[in-house]
Amino acid sequence: MAKSTLSYTCSACGAVHKKWNGKCDACGEWNTITEEAPLSAGPSGKTLGAAKGRVIPLTTLASQEAPPPRTQSGLAELDRVLGGGLVPASAILVGGDPGIGKSTLLLQATASFARNGLNCMYISGEEASAQVRMRAQRLGLADAPVRLATETNLRDILTTLEAEKPDLVIIDSIQTMWADMVESAPGSVSQVRAACHELVTFAKRRGTAVILVGHVTKEGQIAGPRVVEHMVDTVLYFEGERGHQFRILRAVKNRFGPAGEIGVFEMTGGGLAEVANPSALFLSERGQTAPGSAVFAGIEGTRPVLTEIQALVAPSSLASPRRTVVGLDSGRVSTILAVLESRCGIPFAGLDVFLNVAGGMKVLEPAADLALAAALLSAREDVALPADMVIFGEISLSGALRPVGQAENRLKEAEKLGFSQAIAPDRTKADSGEGMRMRRLPDLVTFVGDMFGA
Ligand code: TYD
Ligand code: MG
Repeated sequence: MAKSTLSYTCSACGAVHKKWNGKCDACGEWNTITEEAPLSAGPSGKTLGAAKGRVIPLTTLASQEAPPPRTQSGLAELDRVLGGGLVPASAILVGGDPGIGKSTLLLQATASFARNGLNCMYISGEEASAQVRMRAQRLGLADAPVRLATETNLRDILTTLEAEKPDLVIIDSIQTMWADMVESAPGSVSQVRAACHELVTFAKRRGTAVILVGHVTKEGQIAGPRVVEHMVDTVLYFEGERGHQFRILRAVKNRFGPAGEIGVFEMTGGGLAEVANPSALFLSERGQTAPGSAVFAGIEGTRPVLTEIQALVAPSSLASPRRTVVGLDSGRVSTILAVLESRCGIPFAGLDVFLNVAGGMKVLEPAADLALAAALLSAREDVALPADMVIFGEISLSGALRPVGQAENRLKEAEKLGFSQAIAPDRTKADSGEGMRMRRLPDLVTFVGDMFGA
């Protein structure tokens, strides 16, 4: 018989290592590897392949009943991120930093689903029922037909669920649940995986939709939501900056809808309020146009969103100047700095560069390249860009501008918000509306010559 040995698992990504290490080779996080008891081999005496499973031809499915329709919560931002409403028997993971507002969002969502006729149950492993009720009162949801439970033992939870048969159950949070057949502390990778597996299996078997809350953790003792991402149908992350009131719910994976979709909320004294027009919100803080500011016409999921990219360039006293980037991909920023230097002859050596997306938004589209370059150039040359101009386009390593998708949507949104000129790559397949003047440019060198007369 094989000797049972301890295994070493990364609590951030779930990778298993032969020995303890300071850094996880798989995800690059430090101090996340923890010692875990080996998983038990399962019930003994039963060989695999002993029982026969049920096989059905795909064609018979069509003749069976259509699946039950999706249920809308009435929170349009949430419904869109889910791909058009809640799918029965789906497993959804909602990850986010502690205190970002996951419990608030889910309590509001549960109340709305319950008012739309779903039989909902909210199981909290973190707060007492009285605390959840107090929160519901603050949110004005005290009269919603939601059933509450406070429990962390998975066996008890599953027994309750089997008896009650709800349509939707919220588990807040997956890290507080523990399965008594797993010999490690609650929050460890094996516990979190076991709890998730049991709950997802229950969801599929009984047709109940399950929403799991997962805290993103920095310390190694508690497993993060990434270790169960592969088990669920939909992965949503709730993001936002502490200091800002804006919160963004982003679909990272969705078996029932487009990934990359976002919903925007605002944290108020009375809970989360939906933001129907995020572009207006992200641009609302824009005052007088100053050098270093460029407006990017982006697409998030299926929806156009305008954001302001801000740059600051200052002489550096450091041997290797600072590159501080918030809300953008820092690899992309380095590439664009290199293209500006080698193709346009504009060096940034000896200069500190600070880049930021206003409003706490994350912009990861390659289409933001040109707006990013425009912000950098405008900051470096100390020349403000026209206030009514939006920019989009991808920059290739040769300095050429590549057209990007959904140009028409981008232009329409910009026009709606009162912008009247756009800079786009040559070969962009879209016509601007009446009130929008579009300039199509072939490469970055032409852009620099046009805007800054260099
Ligand atoms: P919470 O939903 O408890 O976060 P999580 O479940 O992700 O840990 O949100 C906690 C924060 O939200 C807390 O700092 C206070 C703030 N908040 C409001 O600003 N308004 C409200 O109406 C509520 C309920 C919370
Ligand atoms: Mg919470």
